Amino acid sequence: MSAYRQLFDRVLTRTDAESAHHLAFRAIRAAQPITRLVGGRVSRVDPARTSRVMGLDFPGLLGLAAGFDKNAVGIDALANMGFGFVEIGTVTGEPQPGNPRPRLARLPADRAVVNRMGFNNDGAEVVAGRLASRRVDRTGRRSGVPLGINIGKTKAVPEDDAVADYEKSTRLLAPHADYLVVNVSSPNTPGLRDLQAVSRLDPLLRAVRRRADDVTDRHVPLLVKIAPDLSDEDVLEVADLAVALGLDGIVATNTTISRQGLSSSPQQVEAAGGGGLSGPPLRSRATEVIRLLRDRVGPDLTLIGVGGITTADDMVERLAAGADLLQAYTGFVYEGPWWPARMNTRLSRRLVQEPATTDRATRPTNLPGTGAGPGSGTGPGTGPGTGTATGEQP
Ligand SMILES: Cc1cc2nc3c(=O)[nH]c(=O)nc-3n(C[C@H](O)[C@H](O)[C@H](O)COP(=O)(O)O)c2cc1C
Repeated sequence: MSAYRQLFDRVLTRTDAESAHHLAFRAIRAAQPITRLVGGRVSRVDPARTSRVMGLDFPGLLGLAAGFDKNAVGIDALANMGFGFVEIGTVTGEPQPGNPRPRLARLPADRAVVNRMGFNNDGAEVVAGRLASRRVDRTGRRSGVPLGINIGKTKAVPEDDAVADYEKSTRLLAPHADYLVVNVSSPNTPGLRDLQAVSRLDPLLRAVRRRADDVTDRHVPLLVKIAPDLSDEDVLEVADLAVALGLDGIVATNTTISRQGLSSSPQQVEAAGGGGLSGPPLRSRATEVIRLLRDRVGPDLTLIGVGGITTADDMVERLAAGADLLQAYTGFVYEGPWWPARMNTRLSRRLVQEPATTDRATRPTNLPGTGAGPGSGTGPGTGPGTGTATGEQP
């Protein structure tokens, strides 16, 4: 058992989950002068694996999912831990405190997290100012890794004004983004997920696209992030809309409101309270959604696979299902700061051993014939837990 896992199991699980998050994030930022020295190496384990997706160079396929760095305060420190890209946010048009605490809980028996943070963040204006003042590195970029910016709706803004709120965030943040994600899938903002209905999503995405084009003189890739709780039919409708609008991609998936198939006791689940569940219990459905999407959209649209990724097997499975890029949040929480670098090494090895199962990851996307169709490799995982076919440890 790793030192971090022992620390996590013995100490951090007894600390309030949100305080532990802030503590860990502060430590990662404080260690930046050291991790910067090794960061280039860990995040670029195998330069040959650099992937060009959406016109951007990703030095690694595993990125940090939205929600960890909501306010863009530790992008470079997080990249140094080995993430190939970082998605900040969710940022809303107006600053807001989020839901009352406690709003974050762990279910250690499932290595899962329940959150009802409610988009606590500094708001688009402050975050834009912070991004503008980031140091530019020697290559002229603000970071060695692509930066995704995830935007959502301010809670106090009436649903009828949602589009204007997203437009405000787009105006302020698109100039700083390598790619932009419209989040309509958090379960913690009342009414937000209703925006996934195609009749509401269509005008929203068109408006964000227009606004991003107004404020930048380059094409900022635009993606939409969807929930695992959509029916298959609704997933396919979003897929069709994405193609029809010429969207760049889909991030799948956000957390789930389901509590099915957990190993934690009903009392533990009850004590964790409402909100979105993340981690291994989400893996199977998140993989299924990627497979559904890939079958529907064909090879060109970018799919970012997120939900329950903990092991290299999970990464290979998600790539085989059709993802171009991967993200994780909960795996990082449970497995510790060196986990992304470990995953990079293991994935590199697997991509060499099994190039056929991870076809999309070994070739540039947006070329004909890069689709990893169904049946191209490992099947979907069943049930919760991080155990894998090979018994591999994360
Ligand atoms: C504490 C916490 C906060 C999150 N906040 C956001 C958020 O602000 N915006 C968002 O799009 N997703 C958010 N997510 C969802 C993650 O980005 C990710 O989609 C989800 O957790 C599934 O991935 P995982 O199983 O690797 O954690 C959050 C997740 C957690 C655990």
